[in-house]
Amino acid sequence: MDKIISPESLGNLTGSGALYGVIGLPIQHSLSPIMHAAAFKRCALDARYIAVAVPPEQLALTVTRLRSLPFAGWNVTLPHKLAIAGLVDELADSAKNLGAVNTVLNDSGKLVGFNTDGEGWVRAVREEFSLDVRDLRIMILGVGGAGGALARQAALERCEKLVLVNRTESKARELVSQLAPWFDSQKLLGADVRLKAVPWDEALIAKELDQIDLVVNTTSVGMKAGDAAVLPARILQPHLCVYDAIYRPAKSKLLSAAEEAGARAANGLGMLLHQGALAFEIWTGQTAPLTVMRSALRTAANPKF
Ligand code: ATR
Repeated sequence: MDKIISPESLGNLTGSGALYGVIGLPIQHSLSPIMHAAAFKRCALDARYIAVAVPPEQLALTVTRLRSLPFAGWNVTLPHKLAIAGLVDELADSAKNLGAVNTVLNDSGKLVGFNTDGEGWVRAVREEFSLDVRDLRIMILGVGGAGGALARQAALERCEKLVLVNRTESKARELVSQLAPWFDSQKLLGADVRLKAVPWDEALIAKELDQIDLVVNTTSVGMKAGDAAVLPARILQPHLCVYDAIYRPAKSKLLSAAEEAGARAANGLGMLLHQGALAFEIWTGQTAPLTVMRSALRTAANPKF
């Protein structure tokens, strides 16, 4: 695998194949290079995928450099998913709808921004639980960059019900007011409120969970070794599906708590896989080789197994 490079050294890249990559900071833990290298190899494409460590003040310069080199496309990760939208030439509907860009296509010199995170999540939920987001009553924990995008996707899908819970409650309330137009009609729930913000309070969350099908954690709670479960087993219920966007560790405390409560549980590796597969398809026009991409990710995320 290519090592991580700086924006300054982009000009030193040699070789003849197509170039792809990911820009972000930090970027050293990204599994995208491994996943896409496996896909290119399986499809016999003469292409490389390079991780570029880009601080915010070098984003515009980096995009100018990427334009001048044979980069056919690239992924965009934290902290650039919002700022990149102002640096591309056109936004696809997915990026307009989610208000963020995670994939750029260089379409004969025109840079087009896409967002595959939302659809990647929908596919991951379908694959893990055999359920469609549009049919579900969903609680999303955290409305930062990731949670906000998933909440918008859930609204676009016209899910049955969406409950947003954020430590800083005002952010959840703000997002509720933005998403309200998507929930103005009644679906199956009759008089039940289809969209709301709920305070970060165990008793209130527990009460809500009676009327929820899918709980999604998008907060960073659970990434660090000492973190407690973002929701404890005592308030989880057997009817729930629990999706943790975290995939390292493979089984977060939340997922252990879900199992303890008899709920179904899945980690975020599927989201990573499907957003990558969708990006691959945008770039190459070919069907993504999901099996090799998944196995490359699993091996890299959990080298012990
Ligand atoms: P990302 O793009 O990964 O979503 P982010 O935009 O920084 O990252 O958002 C982090 C989310 O995790 C936020 O919803 C944050 O809540 P606040 O808005 O209150 O900051 C949430 N979060 C981080 N640490 C948390 C904690 N200890 N308890 C609860 N929520 C937490």
